[in-house]
Amino acid sequence: MSFNTFGQALRLTTWGESHGSAIGCVVDGCPPGLPLEASEIQAELDRRRPGQSRHTTQRREPDEVRILSGVFPDATGRQVTTGTPIALVIENVDQRSKDYGDIASKFRPGHADYTYLQKYGIRDYRGGGRSSARETAMRVAGGAVARKIIDRVSVRAALVQIGPHRIDRSRWDWAEVARNPFFCPDPMAAAAWEGYLDGVRKAGSSAGAVIEVVADGVPPGWGAPLYGKLDQDLASAMMSINAVKAVEIGDGFAAAELSGEANADEMRIGNDGRPVFLSNHAGGIVGGISSGQQIVVRFAVKPTSSILQPRRTIDTGGRDTEIVTKGRHDPCVGIRAVPVGEAMMALVLADHKLRHRAQVGGP
Ligand SMILES: Cc1cc2nc3c(=O)[nH]c(=O)nc-3n(C[C@H](O)[C@H](O)[C@H](O)COP(=O)(O)O)c2cc1C
Repeated sequence: MSFNTFGQALRLTTWGESHGSAIGCVVDGCPPGLPLEASEIQAELDRRRPGQSRHTTQRREPDEVRILSGVFPDATGRQVTTGTPIALVIENVDQRSKDYGDIASKFRPGHADYTYLQKYGIRDYRGGGRSSARETAMRVAGGAVARKIIDRVSVRAALVQIGPHRIDRSRWDWAEVARNPFFCPDPMAAAAWEGYLDGVRKAGSSAGAVIEVVADGVPPGWGAPLYGKLDQDLASAMMSINAVKAVEIGDGFAAAELSGEANADEMRIGNDGRPVFLSNHAGGIVGGISSGQQIVVRFAVKPTSSILQPRRTIDTGGRDTEIVTKGRHDPCVGIRAVPVGEAMMALVLADHKLRHRAQVGGP
């Protein structure tokens, strides 16, 4: 059995551990003829890279990606995909396994140490091994390939809440996302979060967050009822990201509080003769199929479990003990989860575009 692959027409397989020699992925099912350079994948990876501000882990990883297979120069000399598996690799260069001496024999509450050992009877404790979010770098790399397949779709994400502090949605400005270390669309919230997160870090604590991922330009028709629903696959993809504890599509949990008439996304014929929706409570997906509206997904991540605050736990010898997790950790994993959420959305949309084309044809 293997559970390191997801997708159907477009499949991503990732491999590697946090402190192994390298991490990598294979993207299989990518159509041929799409221009693809390592620098384009690198640009996405650079947004997720650790150590870019004091608010993320200080692990220094250049995360330099190499394309090992699946590309070749076309007749004009441009490097394009060939339709064969695209293998990508990143060497791990900043491993400090000694930082993890304590967690070799103790279980971090909230982390995967205990469950991995229970399941497999052996675990690579260096940095959490396979359970480390280092793996998410390869999701971002795979997502960069997926973006090529859905080149008319824009996939963007933003941090909309840290701990109890939410953005003011009336100040939402996508341009702000690139201007602050939080991927926050509200400049005033971003300024306030600086002090809040400094306090959290200095206290040896951590904070959770909510990320919103939005896709524009998805045509009506992607997604397949009943067991290949677009919202079902998006929820699964987001939930597979480390530390994610909840996923919402459109209004999500808030929809339960609306009346039927308030929740109805009413329709009209627009000036150009095409259908127009007057609201988007559904988040762009109805009956598991995209409606042509903006697709909106939110996910919540829990606070980082590796913290300096002492916590009660047990050790591998069956004794009660305490743990203080040193080493380099994200005080809020939600920040670096923003490009990861975008990548997962791009991978699912690209998969569904290809699945839609396989069944009903089209561009
Ligand atoms: C981008 C990102 C960075 C993360 N960094 C850390 C970290 O530095 N320390 C930590 O304990 N957990 C970190 N996590 C979360 C753990 O990987 C995750 O909690 C762990 O694998 C257990 O899985 P679960 O929380 O999904 O149940 C990070 C998660 C993401 C998405």
